[in-house]
Amino acid sequence: MTAGMLLLVLLSSCAKEKPIAKVIDESLAFSAQQYSLMAGVMKEKPGQLPRTLNEKGEFITAGPGWWTSGFFPGSLWYLYEYSKDEKFRIAATEMTARIENEKNNKGTHDLGFMLFCSYGNGLRLTGEESYNEVLLTGARSLSTRFRPNVGCIQSWGSRPGWQCPVIIDNMMNLELLLWAFNHSGDSSFYRIAVTHSDTTIKNHFRADNSSYHVVSYDTISGNVEARQTHQGAADESAWARGQVWGLYGYTVMYRETGLERYLDQAVKIADFLISHPNFPADGVPYWDFNAPGIPDALRDASAASIMASALIELSRYAGEDKSAGYLAVAERQIRTLSSPEYRAGAGENGNFILKHGVGHLPGNSEVDVPLTYGDYYFIEALMRYKGLLTPAP
Ligand code: GLY
Repeated sequence: MTAGMLLLVLLSSCAKEKPIAKVIDESLAFSAQQYSLMAGVMKEKPGQLPRTLNEKGEFITAGPGWWTSGFFPGSLWYLYEYSKDEKFRIAATEMTARIENEKNNKGTHDLGFMLFCSYGNGLRLTGEESYNEVLLTGARSLSTRFRPNVGCIQSWGSRPGWQCPVIIDNMMNLELLLWAFNHSGDSSFYRIAVTHSDTTIKNHFRADNSSYHVVSYDTISGNVEARQTHQGAADESAWARGQVWGLYGYTVMYRETGLERYLDQAVKIADFLISHPNFPADGVPYWDFNAPGIPDALRDASAASIMASALIELSRYAGEDKSAGYLAVAERQIRTLSSPEYRAGAGENGNFILKHGVGHLPGNSEVDVPLTYGDYYFIEALMRYKGLLTPAP
């Protein structure tokens, strides 16, 4: 355990702090209240899903084809699991149905985000038979983007200098494929997910275990043609959300395959993040670990919530020497995100839960705003931590 992690463990056991169980209960109750208001608003906006607020503070929605469409339905499913309140099941069912046609969308790599957060959680909680077909069709659509010469699923379309761009975020879409393998027995889903993960370990990571955002490949030779960024501060920087997508993605890959190399990779990423000199003690990363202007650079609450959720899961698989430290960081992140600095007031913040997310700073888009995915992974982290505190029946 590093000195920083030890400090977090000590802080977490500090008697003056509210018990973490109480912090979690309050944040879940608040999330239910806030998203109940959001569900009311969305009922009047057919075919749309919440996305963010613009720079004037106006509510922005997106159609089902936008990569974030599954997060609001997924959050409602978690809130149904938490509250057992039928109103959340009804709202989640309705919002989930808005995305169904995306199962045929072969023009995006984001189908895991879109369909697994929505239909995947819905299936897990209700066993609704028809959701199986949506997920399986979605997994087949995603598989069409696999490029055998490269050994990866192609993330974005080709553009000058990028024949086959693959972004680290793509690790998040593999859980859908592994579900499809388990459901159908078709091993091609498994092979694609494992090949993509192995190619990404080989080409996306630097010696310090940080990752590039975009690696582009030559479609014929399969060789790397570029290592760059799109949403980060610089090609050689560590864009915060990209790092945590990798952390989460390899944790899931280990859970679903049992292959030790994925656990090793997740642990390496976690240790890079936690021991980084620019990782703030309150657990909310700067939008890029190498952002210009640190310590005055913006923080990204979405990176904190994704990281917290991933660390809680990883703490169950990592060795004893690591687990307590990972959980202590996640606890600190939940405490910070639950504070008034990051958690909105009731009915404020466009009914989103968290403030201060950073979507795409270099593109001057979604800067210091609520983000639907920040909320989703926050609720997921709360549910996961609550699960650790609640003894199994
Ligand atoms: N996948 C896009 C993002 O994380 O912003």
